Amino acid sequence: MTSEKRWVPPVRRPRRLRCSKAIRDMVRETVLVPNHLVLPQFIMEGDNTTEPIEAMPGRSRMSIDRTIIECKEAMDLGVQSFALFPLVPESLKTNDGQEALNPDNLVCRAVHAIKETYPEACVITDIALDPFSNVGHDGIVSPRGKVLNDETVDILAKMAVVHAKAGADIVAPSDMMDGRVGAIRTTLDLAGFADVGIISYTAKYASSFYGPFRQALESAPVQAPNVPKDKKTYQMDPANSREAIAEAMLDEAEGADMIMVKPGLPYLDIIHLLRSQTTLPIAAYHVSGEYAMIKAAAKLGWLDEQACMHESLVALARAGADVIFTYAAIDYAKSWRDSFA
Ligand code: PBG
Repeated sequence: MTSEKRWVPPVRRPRRLRCSKAIRDMVRETVLVPNHLVLPQFIMEGDNTTEPIEAMPGRSRMSIDRTIIECKEAMDLGVQSFALFPLVPESLKTNDGQEALNPDNLVCRAVHAIKETYPEACVITDIALDPFSNVGHDGIVSPRGKVLNDETVDILAKMAVVHAKAGADIVAPSDMMDGRVGAIRTTLDLAGFADVGIISYTAKYASSFYGPFRQALESAPVQAPNVPKDKKTYQMDPANSREAIAEAMLDEAEGADMIMVKPGLPYLDIIHLLRSQTTLPIAAYHVSGEYAMIKAAAKLGWLDEQACMHESLVALARAGADVIFTYAAIDYAKSWRDSFA
């Protein structure tokens, strides 16, 4: 049989290292431990209340007490970091998002409650006006329909201090205003919060994958005269990558402790690119639309949910993300635990 072969058998056979699970496990290059995951949570007013989010099966808006119960579940599985996003009652929304500065607002009460119950948890708050904005923008909208930069930054810096006072470990500006990282850093330092960190949403693209998130928070830009219908004057153009380097250099110089790329999977090249440009940890946000796509296809029986979620998250880590924000954090951590059982 062998003697009839007309070709020389290869010396190198990459399949040897794929022969068994033990060998594959041994040579695996990327291992994603649940500690690297951040669970985004949608919080709402009320007691013992959960409201499922239609476009995000498995995720709900939750009152603070229920949020804390979920934190325990996550912590027991090794997911120790949480990113909070509030559903703000319509009556409290204004163009300048004043409710964001109320030290007794929903976010501040949630931060306080989580830190009181789990001082060891890492609580990350969102810095942007959109959940508080009656027009659904991350900044103040001028009468002529412009999203105002410096006026917004002023409020964001104050917002960071309000969150720090409530006990936030890290603030995460997701607004994409220019200069906000520096303003937040200085304002936090002057207020005595030098230890509060900043994860900057550095390369945040004007993406259509945020749809389910905006549904969850009822925070989409409103369709009205003199209100921009999208976020393209502040979030980045999906066609650009050099611009991501420029944003990263600015955020690093302004004092960001970590930079983020968002969305995740469609922007693996950006994660990889920034990995070569900075020594800061890089976070990736596996956003609501990415989560929803897998959930929807799985519901139709077209994809294996757990396998696809796992593959997506490992791909983000392989591209260079140290930290991954994902709605699938608890599911991933469960499958991680079960793989040892
Ligand atoms: C807004 C914000 C958005 C997300 C996080 N913070 C949406 C937006 O920019 O409109 C999206 C996250 C997701 O889709 O999971 N500051």
